[in-house]
Amino acid sequence: MFKEISLADIQKDPYHLIDHDWMLVTAMKKDGLINTMTASWGTIGSLWEKPVAIIWVRPQRYTKEFVDGSDKVTLSFYPWEDHQMLGYMGTHSGRDEDKIEKCGLTTVNDDGYVYFQQANLVLFGHKLYQQDVQEACFKDETVLNDVYPKRDLHTMYIYEIKKVIAR
Ligand SMILES: Cc1cc2nc3c(=O)[nH]c(=O)nc-3n(C[C@H](O)[C@H](O)[C@H](O)COP(=O)(O)O)c2cc1C
Repeated sequence: MFKEISLADIQKDPYHLIDHDWMLVTAMKKDGLINTMTASWGTIGSLWEKPVAIIWVRPQRYTKEFVDGSDKVTLSFYPWEDHQMLGYMGTHSGRDEDKIEKCGLTTVNDDGYVYFQQANLVLFGHKLYQQDVQEACFKDETVLNDVYPKRDLHTMYIYEIKKVIAR
């Protein structure tokens, strides 16, 4: 059973949650299609007097069409036993297969915010801002060259965290 909690009640530190545990970024397009992918780059914090989550999505991800096509996203976190599933979601594309069904995930739709029953923590995000990362804005070229040798620069999305649910 999920219950609503406050962002401050999350027990694990956000760095560990995102960098080590990983998350699923999930969104639904207007036609009702859903996609999800694993992400381990992002931030949970405070901005514009709001609690926010920031994610970075590369242009070639199928999920990009979904986060571009909706102002709602969920960031969901899973028990460590599901880490293999997160690995799968991060190495296979929803363009090629129904990876949600393949991984046996049960979709939940809460007013357009889509997540999976197997999660143990879900953040509901409302899109405030998005921007394509600009090559000219890098102040340290080592990051640009190490992370973007193909210059497939991410789009950054900033979401207000509207609701948090946890088991
Ligand atoms: C641990 C891990 C973390 C990842 N983090 C990100 C990320 O933060 N941003 C991103 O664009 N892709 C990230 N990826 C890659 C996508 O999850 C991967 O390309 C996925 O297959 C995309 O699926 P899609 O085409 O269905 O969207 C990550 C992959 C893994 C395994």
